[in-house]
Amino acid sequence: MVYETIPRTIRIILLGEPGVGKTSLILSLVTEEFSEHVPPKAEEITIPADVTPEQVPTNIVDVCLTEQTIEQVAEEIEKAHVICIVFSVDRQETLNKVASYWLPFVRDNCPDDYRKPVILVGNKIDLIDYSIIDNIWDIAEEYPEVDRCIECSAKTLTNVSEMFYNAQKAVLHPIHPIYSIEEQE
Ligand code: GTP
Repeated sequence: MVYETIPRTIRIILLGEPGVGKTSLILSLVTEEFSEHVPPKAEEITIPADVTPEQVPTNIVDVCLTEQTIEQVAEEIEKAHVICIVFSVDRQETLNKVASYWLPFVRDNCPDDYRKPVILVGNKIDLIDYSIIDNIWDIAEEYPEVDRCIECSAKTLTNVSEMFYNAQKAVLHPIHPIYSIEEQE
């Protein structure tokens, strides 16, 4: 059996199509308010252990495809413990890309015997008045590394801290059997 030890510092990376709100989610978490004007890419931030529910220091890493090459993004996935793939609930094409591009890309950059947990994050729920969670079950079934799905809004701060807490929990208390079990004779 392959065991991944619990890391001392959890590294969370946010991926997804341009404009889905990755930087806004990080800055809303840190500043507890929404700003219309955010940089293309947030600086890497460290949340100290004493302000995280699980008491584990946590690094949060933003990804911006206009500022980084795809090779640099792949390196960030290799360093991360948990991957948040963000889409915008008002733009179906950003959810389509989760299944057609981002989940396969994450898989390609994880070791064969250890699939890192993935959180699917539907951002901008302030723009719609229905839930899109039902559209996600098929994806979660096809990709068992999808540990949790969460709907949130960087603008209204709805579920923003919960999203990062869920990412921590996915590393510390995974729901799915993400460890591969070697065949026994
Ligand atoms: P890239 O840097 O291009 O990868 O984009 P990003 O995913 O980091 O998105 P960013 O945070 O720059 O947000 C894109 C746009 O969406 C900005 O105009 C934000 O103000 C807006 N936005 C982000 N989150 C929300 C949200 O929860 N609700 C609404 N209504 N707008 C949001």
